Amino acid sequence: MCGIIAAATDRSVGKLLIKGLYKMEYRGYDSAGIAMHVDDQVAHLRTLGKVKLLEERMKLEKPKGKIGIAHTRWATHGEPSELNAHPHQSNDRVFIVHNGIIENYLSLKEELTKEGYAFSSKTDSELIAHLLDRNLKTYNSLLEAVQGLKDRLDGAYAIAALDQNEPDNLVLVRNRSPLVIGLGKNENFAASDPLALAELTNKFLIMEDGDVAKVAPDSVEVFDAKNQLVNREQLTIDIKAEAASKGDFKHYMEKEIFEQPQAVLNTLDGRIGGEDVLENIFGEGSSELLAKVKRVQVVACGTSLHAGRVAANWFSAIAGLPTQMDYASEYRYKNPYIDEDTLLVTISQSGETADTLAALRYANDKDYLGSLAICNVPTSSLARESDFLLLTNAGPEIGVASTKAFTTQLTALMLLTLSLAKATGKNPRLRGRIIKALRFLPEKISEALALKPEILEIAPEIANKNNALFLGRGIFYPIAKEGALKLKEISYIHAEAYPAGELKHGPLALIDGEMPVIAIAPEHELAEKLVSNLEEVKARGGALYVFGNAEERLGLTSGKYINMPDCDFLLTPILYSIPLQILSYEVALLRGTDIDQPRNLAKSVTVE
Ligand code: G6P
Repeated sequence: MCGIIAAATDRSVGKLLIKGLYKMEYRGYDSAGIAMHVDDQVAHLRTLGKVKLLEERMKLEKPKGKIGIAHTRWATHGEPSELNAHPHQSNDRVFIVHNGIIENYLSLKEELTKEGYAFSSKTDSELIAHLLDRNLKTYNSLLEAVQGLKDRLDGAYAIAALDQNEPDNLVLVRNRSPLVIGLGKNENFAASDPLALAELTNKFLIMEDGDVAKVAPDSVEVFDAKNQLVNREQLTIDIKAEAASKGDFKHYMEKEIFEQPQAVLNTLDGRIGGEDVLENIFGEGSSELLAKVKRVQVVACGTSLHAGRVAANWFSAIAGLPTQMDYASEYRYKNPYIDEDTLLVTISQSGETADTLAALRYANDKDYLGSLAICNVPTSSLARESDFLLLTNAGPEIGVASTKAFTTQLTALMLLTLSLAKATGKNPRLRGRIIKALRFLPEKISEALALKPEILEIAPEIANKNNALFLGRGIFYPIAKEGALKLKEISYIHAEAYPAGELKHGPLALIDGEMPVIAIAPEHELAEKLVSNLEEVKARGGALYVFGNAEERLGLTSGKYINMPDCDFLLTPILYSIPLQILSYEVALLRGTDIDQPRNLAKSVTVE
């Protein structure tokens, strides 16, 4: 989960590479580096820390080259340091950047060490440079040397390589890690994410697993897994410049929170009709498939799994279907129950999360009814490898803590619920009611965003605590989990979520004046029981913060109450996510953390 960018141009390439790295810092930001052909040498710069420090080094050293590779890192093997930063090199001849994990690195390292190669880093990536150097002694070109890598490397990798003796081109290889080629006029590029190239081109070739490409300013040649020259389909992807900028907001996260009314509108656009969801919104033939579904298996990670947990309630309540939920990192190892009536649903913002992808690939070999992905990135592996797909259309999400991706996933999952129910004729009136409520959802989200001044009042009280507890019941328990995750990710406050009824089975022991308790309490059949749980907190001196829509009926006598807009009960999980996102953001702002790039985290986790 690092970001790679490479460019072969007929102009100075340094600034362009740095700009691309900035756009991929969400993928990792503990160190960065660059290598480029300069005259008959390769200039090589690496820095510990964020891309800004690399940019400053570049300004001092002013290397000028037209062909180069660059990298921003999220450490897996070896701590963040200049020596562990990419590009790695061998014999001052070969330079590589790598995203992924080389699983057989220990045996390869041993083999290369015996041959006299010295390792200066603790990474699993440096050996790639040495392997290439060794290959170049027997192969005729960098292209062939890279093709010769594929039989030796086990694991996931996207690599860009330079050979000092080939100053006119660079070579790429991809296997289970994202890499796209961008096509320009007298210049061509490559990156882990098309976003990094958005200002340079809108024409892309998506590399497939096993592809190797030779990239020069005026040519791109792609060779497939069998080393045959191939034509990969050219895609036009327009990414609006403003989509990848902060605009007037302090952070991407804040911007993305406030984009949610529009993002949800985009998810709904073209997918709902007068009183029902439209046919085949997941792709041709999807309605026919959905009619056969008897069970659902959901697999995802992090925030995306929280969206799945909410949806499991909807599948059961609206479509009458049981759901099995699994962390993608656990799913393959638990001998999952698989049958021909079960639909596999994967949920992922990036579509490149290694565990989720591995789960899909595992499932694709089994006898599931089919696979369906809810995903935000059309060019991603998940989007391309699933039988059916619904894009969330949230636009690029750059803040590491997921916000608009989550609410659009929930919206998309409600569309899936309605489609499943429609396919078997269940609950037509309820479906009509939800469709109507969905049309008002963007407006309701705007109303929830307008609660920011009230949230600003409580944020300082939570910002000076070390722990927090989030409570919800039923369909709101996953929202409590998501609220706790948001708070810990960006403010580093330890936060946990419980179904409120579980409080007295342990966590109540933690309650004292130092433990803020944040409760999600819209009016529903469990609201009264929730009030009893909150009374238990109050009686122990815990500080209560309640988000609800029926203050009087709840009859709470103390604590802070934030009155939420009314909305159809089944959509309230989407609405109640909003104030929790704002709360985390404001708390983190007060604590002065690095909100868009919290320590130790990365947005796209492309390693298992
Ligand atoms: C990382 C991100 C989370 C995200 C999770 C799953 O941990 O920091 O925000 O929820 O990955 O990512 P995905 O792209 O699959 O939704």
